[in-house]
Amino acid sequence: MARVHHEQRVGFGVEARSQWDLAPDLSFLNHGSFGAVPRVLQERATEARRAIERNPVEGVWRDGVTAIRASAEAVAGFLGADGDRTGFVSNATNGINAMLQSFPLEPGDEVLHLDQGYNAVWQSILMTARRRGIVPRKIEIPLPIDGPGDWIDAVERAITPRTKLLVLDQITSPTALVLPTRAIVEMAKSHGVETIVDGAHAPGMLDRPVADIGDPIAWTGNLHKWPCALRGTAVVVVRGDFEGRMKPTVISHHLDQSFTAEFDWQGTFDPAPWILAKEAIDFMDRFGGWGEVRRRNRDLAIEAHAMLVERLGVEPISPLDGSSLGFMATLPLPDRLQPAGGGSPLPSADPKSGPLEISVDPVQARLLEDHRIEIPVMYHGGRRFVRFSTHVYNEFAEYERLAAAIKVL
Ligand SMILES: Cc1ncc(COP(=O)(O)O)c(C=O)c1O
Repeated sequence: MARVHHEQRVGFGVEARSQWDLAPDLSFLNHGSFGAVPRVLQERATEARRAIERNPVEGVWRDGVTAIRASAEAVAGFLGADGDRTGFVSNATNGINAMLQSFPLEPGDEVLHLDQGYNAVWQSILMTARRRGIVPRKIEIPLPIDGPGDWIDAVERAITPRTKLLVLDQITSPTALVLPTRAIVEMAKSHGVETIVDGAHAPGMLDRPVADIGDPIAWTGNLHKWPCALRGTAVVVVRGDFEGRMKPTVISHHLDQSFTAEFDWQGTFDPAPWILAKEAIDFMDRFGGWGEVRRRNRDLAIEAHAMLVERLGVEPISPLDGSSLGFMATLPLPDRLQPAGGGSPLPSADPKSGPLEISVDPVQARLLEDHRIEIPVMYHGGRRFVRFSTHVYNEFAEYERLAAAIKVL
């Protein structure tokens, strides 16, 4: 993408942070979960919503649909996708559900998902099994990862003659690793297996993440993570031969009219977040554009990862040269902070009645309460990990404070 000139270049770190409403005493190292919306975009959302309310029928429908299409085209350009086959959804979870509902699957077909895949996506695969009789299977990926070959070999070993579909992360959630997506998609295709790519974290973190990934059947990714769009902004991209079969999770007026008609109108909703997606992407111009942002965030992640591994005396799960990292890194916590007997100390997800209870890991809670560091603690393979993020408003000293905080827990 061409480097964009911005009149007033804003510096990374503390200077950038003044563009967000993040609490002044908080170290925000979990951009990866729900993003963080810059103040100017919040203000633009208010303006856009007020403009819509001057005539809601105009704003939501007559003009709204046109604005949504223009925004989808712009987002497609940013992602390296074809605008005619790019449609908005509320989030990547929705995108994956839409694909699993649309894809032709027969009872007994195996659907593969990585053991490092996102739990909500696995639940969606389990629901597909209930509804359609498919056989869900997890692929075990041994850690540490040395390089791209580890992923390709593990996925290839898991493929059987019954395997029909692979649901593949482009960047994993608990382990924050960037996968060799194209090589895996092509290898799977050579065995007659189609791939759905879960690119939830890819927009912004990777340059044109939909271009050159081996032509998967469909792809989904969030704009409300790294591009800092208003929450509820994600897209699906579908391959040409599947365009007519790909349906939104909610069917509205325009069934079978066209992919764009079906996705651009999914019932009454607030169009402001989708209309403003392009403005979110352009927000990074003030830091020198996406190329600069990517280079700096990644360098910061690599440097902070190496420092934390050294100061905490833990084994990294990926090479220290950062070849598997984007804007996040996951590392195991020291042995004394591992859960006794392995496994998560959190309550199980067994069926129960009553409202949803949010359980926070005790280590995560102490980092927030005692040290004002917002950072996720993850479980994988019975071990406890911490995952930090790097974005334009972060600086190295925050990761040094994290190292010091973990040492005194
Ligand atoms: C790999 C992966 N897939 C899917 C999702 C779901 O994203 P959302 O909650 O926006 O639907 C996430 C969220 O972090 C993710 O990391």
